Amino acid sequence: MKKLAVVGAQWGDEGKGKVVNYFSRDFEWIVRFSGGANAGHTIYVGDKKYVNHLLPSINPVIDSKGFLGAGMVIDVGQLVEELKILERDFPGISSRFYLDPEAFIVLPWHKEEDLLLEKMRKVPIGTTGRGIGPAYTDKASREGLKLFVLFDEALLRERLEAIYHMKRSKYNRDFAVSIEEMLVYLQGFRAELERLSVNFTSAVDMYRVFRSTSVLFEGAQGVLLDLDFGTYPFVTSGACMAHGVSSVGFSTFELDGVYGVLKAYTTRVGAGPFPTEESSGVGDLLRERGKEFGATTGRARRIGWLDLPALRYAKIRSGLTGLVITKGDVLNGLDEVKICVAYDVDGVVKELPSTSYDFFRAKPIYETASGWPVTDHVNFLKYMTFIERETGVEIDYISYGPKTEEMKTSNDLIMNI
Ligand code: IMP
Repeated sequence: MKKLAVVGAQWGDEGKGKVVNYFSRDFEWIVRFSGGANAGHTIYVGDKKYVNHLLPSINPVIDSKGFLGAGMVIDVGQLVEELKILERDFPGISSRFYLDPEAFIVLPWHKEEDLLLEKMRKVPIGTTGRGIGPAYTDKASREGLKLFVLFDEALLRERLEAIYHMKRSKYNRDFAVSIEEMLVYLQGFRAELERLSVNFTSAVDMYRVFRSTSVLFEGAQGVLLDLDFGTYPFVTSGACMAHGVSSVGFSTFELDGVYGVLKAYTTRVGAGPFPTEESSGVGDLLRERGKEFGATTGRARRIGWLDLPALRYAKIRSGLTGLVITKGDVLNGLDEVKICVAYDVDGVVKELPSTSYDFFRAKPIYETASGWPVTDHVNFLKYMTFIERETGVEIDYISYGPKTEEMKTSNDLIMNI
């Protein structure tokens, strides 16, 4: 039974939600394995748009199920909000979602801490402020709160007291939400999750189920924001690559493929190196055309040309076996399109960055391609072929609009030209 992972091949916002939603018709389970409400995955059902931050991008009108794995950090308030929005249009859909009780909860304390820490940093990261970093920090330092604690009244109080004690000692200040308020807040969501009939089941219980059926693993953010291999410290705190499936009890060797989703150009939100950035002129044009404003924070995204060294790095780091290209239409009508083919790193030409530190010192070396009026055009095909040749990975699908159905295979493209 097929197992596929879909990950971002750049700095996130490549259109993974739409791509997963398109593929979801062929899968029984859609599994989110990492990240939290810092992500913003947009899906369309007909003409209606839904932005999910936590829920896997299942197709609501097809009978697939969604699993939120233990590697995630879950803002239960946000989760309930998303479920309620979907419930309004698809009654009963909540019962198609399953949560691993081993996942961690993002508390309002984490969000407060996120903002505090960001202010304390000499060089801010530009976090989404969703409490992701502090929640993962607490997980690693053994101060986190697992979902299963929600269902044990005494344990919940004990854990909240311990967590608050630690935070107050660390920062020498009180937080906006007291322990008592936090208890009431969390109890309210427990009741909501029960009312909505959301399921709790661990990856241990799902071990056999997942192996006997088709599973699509939905990555969050992108390879270059990965905690281990991204442009550290300007990264998120979770696993953005296919190796994150380990938190659902899988090995990457069990995957039949890993699709990397890339935009025909590059974007980045927040601070950190971005070798091909165009901070004015065509960058502004593409931002407007591509509606490049964050789905989570509304921030203007930074814009740049396609970066092949970064893509080669993403291919190797995340074992990409195929590519899906999105937003080629945003470049329609440009006379020329620049493509970064290599970096000059302190005077050394590199087609492939050796370490994430190379991104900080890289000066882009560009080639120029002829533009295209529409994506069904030989010049866009040439652009794609160039990417394939330079990365050694085939582009199997082309997304040409935000709607789920606005997707075609590269063979369709060839036939249309
Ligand atoms: P955090 O994950 O909120 O701590 O943010 C850390 C960095 O990752 C910041 O630069 C964010 O802008 C970036 N980031 C986090 N989630 C996303 C995403 O879903 N898309 C793009 N960038 C993201």
